[in-house]
Amino acid sequence: MPCAVWVASIVSSTSVPRPILFAPRSSLLTPFDSLSRKSHRTLLASSAASSGLDLVALSNICVDIVLPVKDLPPLDVESRKKLLAEKSASLAATGDRSNWEVGGSCNVAIAAARLGLRVATCGNIASDVYGHFLRKTLEAEGIPQNAELALADLFPTLRETLLVLTFVTSGGKHAFCSRYDFGPWPLLKGIETLADGAHQMMATAKAVFINGFVFDELPPDVVALAAQRAQQAGAAIFFDPGPRAFTLQEGPRRAALDAILDIADVVLMTQEEALAVAGESEPFHAAKAVLDRPQARAQWVVIKLGGTGSQLHTSTHVVSQPAFQVEVKDCVGCGDSMGGAIVLGFIQKRSLSATLTLANAVGGATAMGLGAGRNVAGREDVLSLLQRGIDFPNPHGPSPADCRAALELVA
Ligand SMILES: Nc1ncnc2c1ncn2[C@@H]1O[C@H](COP(=O)(O)OP(=O)(O)OP(=O)(O)O)[C@@H](O)[C@H]1O
Ligand SMILES: [Mg+2]
Repeated sequence: MPCAVWVASIVSSTSVPRPILFAPRSSLLTPFDSLSRKSHRTLLASSAASSGLDLVALSNICVDIVLPVKDLPPLDVESRKKLLAEKSASLAATGDRSNWEVGGSCNVAIAAARLGLRVATCGNIASDVYGHFLRKTLEAEGIPQNAELALADLFPTLRETLLVLTFVTSGGKHAFCSRYDFGPWPLLKGIETLADGAHQMMATAKAVFINGFVFDELPPDVVALAAQRAQQAGAAIFFDPGPRAFTLQEGPRRAALDAILDIADVVLMTQEEALAVAGESEPFHAAKAVLDRPQARAQWVVIKLGGTGSQLHTSTHVVSQPAFQVEVKDCVGCGDSMGGAIVLGFIQKRSLSATLTLANAVGGATAMGLGAGRNVAGREDVLSLLQRGIDFPNPHGPSPADCRAALELVA
């Protein structure tokens, strides 16, 4: 499409709902591999329970623990490895879970479940105390199913749940520490395909969400195969490169990024991530770079603009929506959680402007809380932000009509 048409579209589409064109998606079913006995049991269990899933969050399932410290820990690898091992053991031994939270892909999973979607995870939840915490927490959020990535017997790294420690000083400085910092990456090197139960679960879903951290855990071709098989079975693939975009710049990791960009039906990124992914930070050009990739099938590109709001680009339309004015506690998980609303709008073929308004309400409601995991947008907060947008229109905020349309998506 010529640039002039795009520009005209941007200028005129800020708050005007426009028709959405959806390309037909293949419903071709891929036969599953022959089954090992153990994975067959997993498959039968998950297949019966998981039919009718809206969303599967693939991999990057972790427990986040925030630890207040006087000074940040030393930077050298050996000291940090030692510290991680000591903390993992001592934290597991205490009964205090007050500073434990679920993180990574759990953020989009929880946000989506709170919007009413049927959600499952497909990731490593080991049989340790951290895995127990993850299971209980996800179950309480209405996300009781998890499919194993692979057999823990074959991959000892799967015997531990991923723990991410965040050290925070009273001055607000922070540093992360997790097993993923130390490699070798990906953690499941040598795996050639996911367990059958994992493929089966994704094949029953309407959407699969993949973030950039997934490439630290799974080999690129395994991620691509999982996405392609799910897509062939009818799932839409969502990809958010996240902060890992900056590590996907060269060699095989760049190839992995290119592959998933071509597979994804929807790509979500911040402007900084867009620069790393598409070589452009200006939203229009960044989205165009993704949509115009010769092999791309992306239908939506969402550019997340923090406190300014967000934009949703298709090959023919651009919708730009302002953020909700909220009392911000912190912005952790805003983007992850808004992904849940984008999934809802896409799989239900809702209007671009209603979907983006809902996504901004979810991101805004998450900014009102501290941290992510169970602190992402609560359903009631989202509904009341939208209702406030109807009852007390703000000239700098979303229009009452868009708030009403967004409310209808979740009411
Ligand atoms: N300060 C804020 N006030 C209101 N809404 C906000 C604010 N910050 C973020 N949001 C909402 O959340 C959305 C996503 O936030 P952001 O652009 O920070 O994504 P992100 O960097 O991917 O977040 P994260 O990686 O922490 O999950 C924004 O598009 C906006 O709708
Ligand atoms: Mg993000």
